[in-house]
Amino acid sequence: MPEDSERTPLIAVVQVAPPRQRYPHSTLRRACTTILAVILLLAVVTYLVIGFIIPDCRDHRQHGRKGPCLSKHPFFRHHSVQSLGYSQSNIQYDELLDILSTTPKEEKAKEWSKYYTSGPHLAGKNLSQAEWTRDRWQEFGIGNTEIVSYDVYVNYPLGHRLALLEKKSKSKEDEGAEDSSKAEWAVKYEAKLKEDVLDEDETSGLEDRVPTFHGYSASGNVTAPYVYVNYGTYKDFEELQAANVSLKGKIALIRYGGIFRGLKVKRAQDLGMVGAVIYTDPGDDGALSDENGNKTYPDGGAREPSSVQRGSVQYISIAPGDPTTPGYPSLPGVPRQPVDGAIPQIPSIPISYLDAIPLLKALNGYGPKASSFNKYWDGGGLGYKGVKYNIGPSPDGLELNLVNEQEYVTTPMWDVIGIINGTLQDEVVVLGNHRDAWIAGGAGDPNSGSAAMNEVIRSFGVAIAKGWKPLRTIVLASWDGEEYGLIGSTEWVEEYLPWLNGSAVAYLNVDVGTTGPKFGASAAPLLNKVLIEATHMVLSPNQTVKNQTIGDVWNKHIATMGSGSDFTAFQDFAGIPCVDMGFTQDAHSPVYHYHSNYDSFHWMDTFGDPGWHYHVAIAKLWAILAAKIVETPVIQFNATDYADGLKGYVDKVKEKAANSSLFPTSDEGEESAWSKDINLKPLDIILTRLRNASFAFDATALSLQTEIDADPLPWWKWWERVKRQQRLKAVNQKYQYLERQFLYAKGLDERPWFKHVVFAPGYWTGYAGATFPGLVESIDKGDLGGVYRWAGIITGTVGKAVKLLES
Ligand SMILES: *[C@@H]1O[C@H](CO)[C@@H](O)[C@H](O)[C@H]1NC(C)=O
Ligand SMILES: *[C@@H]1O[C@H](CO)[C@@H](O)[C@H](O)[C@H]1NC(C)=O
Ligand SMILES: *[C@@H]1O[C@H](CO)[C@@H](O)[C@H](O)[C@H]1NC(C)=O
Ligand SMILES: *[C@@H]1O[C@H](CO)[C@@H](O)[C@H](O)[C@H]1NC(C)=O
Ligand SMILES: *[C@@H]1O[C@H](CO)[C@@H](O)[C@H](O)[C@H]1NC(C)=O
Ligand SMILES: *[C@@H]1O[C@H](CO)[C@@H](O)[C@H](O)[C@H]1NC(C)=O
Ligand SMILES: *[C@@H]1O[C@H](CO)[C@@H](O)[C@H](O)[C@H]1NC(C)=O
Ligand SMILES: *[C@@H]1O[C@H](CO)[C@@H](O)[C@H](O)[C@H]1NC(C)=O
Ligand SMILES: *[C@@H]1O[C@H](CO)[C@@H](O)[C@H](O)[C@H]1NC(C)=O
Ligand SMILES: *[C@@H]1O[C@H](CO)[C@@H](O)[C@H](O)[C@H]1NC(C)=O
Ligand SMILES: *[C@@H]1O[C@H](CO)[C@@H](O)[C@H](O)[C@H]1NC(C)=O
Ligand SMILES: [Zn+2]
Repeated sequence: MPEDSERTPLIAVVQVAPPRQRYPHSTLRRACTTILAVILLLAVVTYLVIGFIIPDCRDHRQHGRKGPCLSKHPFFRHHSVQSLGYSQSNIQYDELLDILSTTPKEEKAKEWSKYYTSGPHLAGKNLSQAEWTRDRWQEFGIGNTEIVSYDVYVNYPLGHRLALLEKKSKSKEDEGAEDSSKAEWAVKYEAKLKEDVLDEDETSGLEDRVPTFHGYSASGNVTAPYVYVNYGTYKDFEELQAANVSLKGKIALIRYGGIFRGLKVKRAQDLGMVGAVIYTDPGDDGALSDENGNKTYPDGGAREPSSVQRGSVQYISIAPGDPTTPGYPSLPGVPRQPVDGAIPQIPSIPISYLDAIPLLKALNGYGPKASSFNKYWDGGGLGYKGVKYNIGPSPDGLELNLVNEQEYVTTPMWDVIGIINGTLQDEVVVLGNHRDAWIAGGAGDPNSGSAAMNEVIRSFGVAIAKGWKPLRTIVLASWDGEEYGLIGSTEWVEEYLPWLNGSAVAYLNVDVGTTGPKFGASAAPLLNKVLIEATHMVLSPNQTVKNQTIGDVWNKHIATMGSGSDFTAFQDFAGIPCVDMGFTQDAHSPVYHYHSNYDSFHWMDTFGDPGWHYHVAIAKLWAILAAKIVETPVIQFNATDYADGLKGYVDKVKEKAANSSLFPTSDEGEESAWSKDINLKPLDIILTRLRNASFAFDATALSLQTEIDADPLPWWKWWERVKRQQRLKAVNQKYQYLERQFLYAKGLDERPWFKHVVFAPGYWTGYAGATFPGLVESIDKGDLGGVYRWAGIITGTVGKAVKLLES
């Protein structure tokens, strides 16, 4: 999309009249034309005045948006006239559920997967795939589908090198030849940095396949000794420092796993290291492995030894999205911020375990053994290849040369956004999946989700054709740029925040739809109940027990919201309750080649989901979950589950504080000035009140729903209908805005983009969720003042939630 093109509105609010024909003279006609022209002019002027001049829109214009400020248009703020909550649908709910649970088909999911995985679709590199997606959704019946673009700062790979260099033993002639010092080094191992081409898997041999590299990695050329730092977690680095392993000026050889890769590089950089090499250790693969005699892909389910995990090294826990536009959308012409503090400054590259073996073996016998630390250091899977997992540093005369060349550009990325108008346009449910992948394939991440999403939308289309009009409005999103740092979703949420703030009910994310048979989900507690119910409405592809549902096979563990996918901006920035779900591998599944060329159509068809049943299962579940939230007159949330969740998180915080060094016990046996229990009394009290208010409110909501189900009220009891609608709106608004109460405008300490006081990604983990991050981080820093400050802030937000529910 060219930079100066007019932005198409999110929902076309103004219908522009076609040019009029000139008719034979007739005064009446002329008068009519004049009146119409005046009306049209007034409408346009009003629209422009609202769009451009009211102060709310100042930000919008400052950020370079050319068109009217739609997100703040009254259309999005007030109920529409028809918003009486009565469905205008011509089909019954049961019929809808039936359509949604019978329409998705294996062969269709396979067809969509085949398309998405047939060519590279690195973020910002494949407009035709966005257009194809838009065209399919329009064909399915979502006429209102458009491409929304952002101008994003990203890197693309130019070149790389990793070589193990060894100093040659000096020959007599070399003695004293100081100036030819470079010539003394010989290449002991030149890393391939490439994945093998497999005859069976055509994706692995595509001419235009994507090189191995890290998104947002720094360019650089460093030569230095290196140290094996295990997973490179904060704790791993603490232990290395405690053991006096020298890190400064060294290159870190890091194992993938545990935490988000960018935070491994960040910690290495903070400690003065000059480069990072991150490898995949087969010890983290589970039961199937080369070592256990399982055949490697494509002959079997064990890891292909040359597979490399690409991925972003952005500091995702500090701020996702375009690093040059934190907190506002990356529109053409907006001011750009410096990126230091958001992405690394030391070069990093990802490598395979084949390339890692010579590097690890060269450390054998140098420095402490990893197993001398603790159990977290003792799981490497390359012992059978002669690796002893010594930490190093590499001895004198043994160094790594790491070269990373990246081109940084500001380039368009394309979200595809579809809208199904509901009867209620101020209650909106958003469904999203990202489309971009690190590789030409991406059959698991993300296109198993994309294929499923197309089936969800095709099912919605079938229902619409039969007369369905959703009660609430549905927004469908195919995000670009997720892999670099949740970019497409973050920029979109930042752009439409005022509208989302007023109208969003929930966001339902599916990133990886399936890579195995094990269902997994994380959710905001408000959504736990409806999620569990929905899982019991879809049959599992696993029919070991006849008619068992996804819910029957699932362990019902619902994780807290962390980060690592597109729900982050919705949950943590906008305060919209989210679900993130999909099927993953269990302990016995074939190894999934995450972010590798072998996450391909062939792998999926042969090992991941032969039969494509799990694609269909996730599509049905997603559609039915959406339908339950969209169609039930009373929003299907449960506030009590939220209150109970918060109580549990506070108990964990107290335990953590008691374990911490916040309250040093004095050596002289003197009583410490503080009790070991932090005093969170006000928070405890308000949480009890929240529990009570929530329980009472859920009961009120349930009785209203029961009343509606029992007697829908015929149209001629219109007065009672109106009164009931008012009660319904009051209940729904409380559910709709409850999560929003937990936002704190100033955001978390040191990462103000994150506004939610309950959920955030862990500062040093990235993927995993931290609950009450302000409290937990204050405890980690030993900052008792911070603990009480955050206890106060949280008490305030919970107080707002109580007030909302009790009002
Ligand atoms: C959705 O609703 C808006 C506002 O009522 C209307 O302008 C638009 O045409 C509708 N879109 C579709 C596809 O019905
Ligand atoms: C875009 O994706 C399509 C479908 O996967 C593929 O055929 C095409 O080659 C890709 N285009 C580019 C420019 O990579
Ligand atoms: C990296 O730096 C070394 C030493 O300065 C130099 O010899 C080498 O050519 C550089 N490599 C690249 C790829 O620029
Ligand atoms: C690390 O060095 C410090 C100071 O030199 C010393 O006190 C400590 O014992 C050393 N620790 C280990 C594990 O060697
Ligand atoms: C793969 O390894 C597992 C675990 O050792 C074993 O149970 C299984 O039989 C192996 N499968 C094959 C095909 O070798
Ligand atoms: C969201 O809406 C609430 C209530 O109208 C308002 O107080 C708050 O400032 C809004 N937040 C944003 C970020 O627009
Ligand atoms: C299939 O279902 C059975 C019975 O519920 C269960 O024991 C088994 O673990 C499931 N298998 C998979 C691969 O999910
Ligand atoms: C499974 O479901 C079908 C259709 O609802 C039903 O006819 C059948 O009896 C069920 N079988 C079992 C074992 O529950
Ligand atoms: C606190 O310490 C106990 C005992 O060491 C441990 O079991 C528990 O997991 C710790 N709790 C937290 C929250 O760190
Ligand atoms: C919560 O409800 C319980 C039982 O209904 C009651 O005893 C208690 O006083 C209430 N607490 C608060 C803080 O409202
Ligand atoms: C909400 O959740 C609580 C706790 O799980 C449960 O006791 C209550 O019955 C639920 N309320 C409704 C209306 O489902
Ligand atoms: Zn993904």
